[in-house]
Amino acid sequence: MQEDFSSLPGYTRRGGELFCEDIALKDLAQRFGTPLYVYSHAALQSALQGWMAGVAGTRHRIFYAMKANSNLALLKLFHSAGTGFDIVSRGELARALAAGAAGSDIVYSGVGKSVEDIRAALNAGISTFNVESIPELDRINAVAQSMGKVAPVSVRINPDVDAKTHPYISTGLKNNKFGVAFDQTAALYRHAAQLANVRICGMDMHIGSQITEIEPFVHAVDKMLDLVDELAQCGITLDHLDVGGGLGVRYINETPPTAADLVHAVSQKAADRGYGDLPIYFEPGRSLVARAGVLLTTVEYLKPTAAKNFMIVDAAMNDMVRPTLYQAHMAIENCSQADNCEALWDVVGPVCETGDFLARGIALAAQPGDVLAMTGAGAYGMSMSSNYNSRGRAAEVLVKGSKAWLIRRRETIEDIMALESTVPVEAL
Ligand code: LLP
Repeated sequence: MQEDFSSLPGYTRRGGELFCEDIALKDLAQRFGTPLYVYSHAALQSALQGWMAGVAGTRHRIFYAMKANSNLALLKLFHSAGTGFDIVSRGELARALAAGAAGSDIVYSGVGKSVEDIRAALNAGISTFNVESIPELDRINAVAQSMGKVAPVSVRINPDVDAKTHPYISTGLKNNKFGVAFDQTAALYRHAAQLANVRICGMDMHIGSQITEIEPFVHAVDKMLDLVDELAQCGITLDHLDVGGGLGVRYINETPPTAADLVHAVSQKAADRGYGDLPIYFEPGRSLVARAGVLLTTVEYLKPTAAKNFMIVDAAMNDMVRPTLYQAHMAIENCSQADNCEALWDVVGPVCETGDFLARGIALAAQPGDVLAMTGAGAYGMSMSSNYNSRGRAAEVLVKGSKAWLIRRRETIEDIMALESTVPVEAL
């Protein structure tokens, strides 16, 4: 089953042609080439408004998890709409600052922060480190001490809750590498309270990604609040709770809750437990960008075989790895009405791996030269792309109405080779 384009904000079919806002996708493919990532400004705004409406009138905050898509043009848009940023590296820190964010708009997640990462974040004056282990806490304390600073810290707990998502993107189970084990959390907070160069400010979790039910979030928040109660008994109080990201989106026929529903359910749980005044942070990534983006690709060859039909296109697993890595099902449609009949196809790229596919066994009608659009490609598409097979990364375009801006040019082979140097053969 394929997603119906008519339900995607920012995209419509007009007289057989697929449009992003007021521009035919086929025309964008012709102007900028393929593979091409296209983002609809209206769709980004609609996703943003969904989250912003959810937190309106509260002290809750949105920190966009830029790992989903860190293009500077998108970051600037989010910053101007009032989101902060959830970062996981000092590269992402530099992007947040370049987009205009203040340190106080940034939370820093991730299990492996290096001394350099911590130093850069302290220099930027970030809002909080989400700490995942005692050695990390001790390192943050030591680096802060060496800089004469006090680091704001929150502890990421591992609530041991099943987010019911793909195992690679499930993060809140006790056998995942993330967060501090539930029964060790209070001790870690007590330890933090003894350190001179850290200031405890919050508690954090992130239980997984592409979660399509509210229940795992509420269950995890409930467990989090048990710990908050326990800390209060030792005189440790917090200034916020961070419930991470993870809200799923519709790719084919999923029916995730809305952002406002999620915010409401989590806030209600906090209020029921007597924490109605505690600000709650949300770190959405995918739900802000996935459905705003499509990946355009041109059909190179049709290769029907006795066993299977292969449609060979110019995008590959280096451009979009989600189907290969997570067995993700993402819809693909022809941007124009095709003349031939529908058949079942494996849509595959030019990369030399059997795992190089964008979709398998989907119904499509297309001819060589036709432009296809993969939907839901705005999240974890470009940001996970690579140069495998010395393929340059795709270009990215932002569309608003009848305007299209190139927001990242296509990588050339010169770009790819620029960082390498050869050694004279005589020296080898
Ligand atoms: N906060 C933390 C600490 C995270 O680790 C993540 C995502 C997020 C927020 C944002 O989660 P979201 O709202 O996007 O679900 N590459 C995978 C997804 C990996 C998610 C990693 N962490 C995919 O393409 O499905």
